Amino acid sequence: MEPELLQPADLPDLLALCRAAAWNQTEADWQRVLTLEPELSLGIRAEGRIVATAVGFTYPGSSTSPPLAWIGMVLTHPDHRGHGHARRLMQHLVAGLDRRGYTIQKLDATAMGQPLYEQLGFIAEQPVERWKRDASPKRIAALGVVEPFQSIPDLDAAAFAWNRARVLPSLLAAGDGALTEGGFALGRPGAVATYFGPCVARYPAAAKRLASWFLARHGGEDVFWDLLPHNQEARALAHSLGFRPVRQLVRMVRLSPGVTEPPRRDDFIYAIAGFELG
Ligand SMILES: CC(C)(COP(=O)(O)OP(=O)(O)OC[C@H]1O[C@@H](n2cnc3c(N)ncnc32)[C@H](O)[C@@H]1OP(=O)(O)O)[C@@H](O)C(=O)NCCC(=O)NCCS
Repeated sequence: MEPELLQPADLPDLLALCRAAAWNQTEADWQRVLTLEPELSLGIRAEGRIVATAVGFTYPGSSTSPPLAWIGMVLTHPDHRGHGHARRLMQHLVAGLDRRGYTIQKLDATAMGQPLYEQLGFIAEQPVERWKRDASPKRIAALGVVEPFQSIPDLDAAAFAWNRARVLPSLLAAGDGALTEGGFALGRPGAVATYFGPCVARYPAAAKRLASWFLARHGGEDVFWDLLPHNQEARALAHSLGFRPVRQLVRMVRLSPGVTEPPRRDDFIYAIAGFELG
């Protein structure tokens, strides 16, 4: 059972895999990776269906920084765990990324995945948390001026450190987005809860306008918001809007020898784009 490239025809298996693990990804989320990263979307098939996956999502480099590969969707069906599928997929994916020159590889690890990643040379960078707000009939008022979504490429590049021009339009197509003075945000449907993120803002007031805009539309739904808890302003804002932490993961990085990460502004990242996207 060697890793193979995932195909659009595998979508039903991929969705079944996510549902078995109560993951939030939808068909649109899987279609995004299959469309944008067909060469880095890997699976293992058993008994005729895909039972394990691992995907690389890439961001281009610039004259000052190498490109980034973000690894996600590392998932094995509960009935097929402990047979080495995740290890084989990760070894194959990491070797392919190394060959293609991705000298910086990152991921958000669950406690189950972390030991495997450590064996492959990933080291812990910082915690990342999932916060949740339960559906509430109480109306949240939109605050201040919010316009239709546009990215602010300079701000996003300063915050995230890589260019997300490929992925942001695809996230917008699946959901909602907004722009305000000092920041922008996107949100999309999820299988378990509606997802708020990414949200990038220069200062807390801008993030507050964006989060209020989102909750004015989606406060009647369960909402997930994944954030970097070292960003105290992000935690404080999520808390003030009724979110509570429900899961903690570990952001990990694997650097080729001699490579350093470009500077970034985690204090501008109020919500990440997703555990599978960074
Ligand atoms: C983490 C996960 C992907 C591992 O998949 P798998 O195909 O069973 O993994 P493998 O058989 O290749 O085992 C790889 C390593 O995972 C860990 N692991 C596997 N099964 C485990 C178990 N039952 N308990 C604890 N650790 C386990 C071990 O470190 C193992 O290495 P070892 O064989 O040297 O002990 C799978 O458990 C899973 O889908 N979990 C839920 C989703 C998740 O947390 N994914 C990781 C996202 S970052």
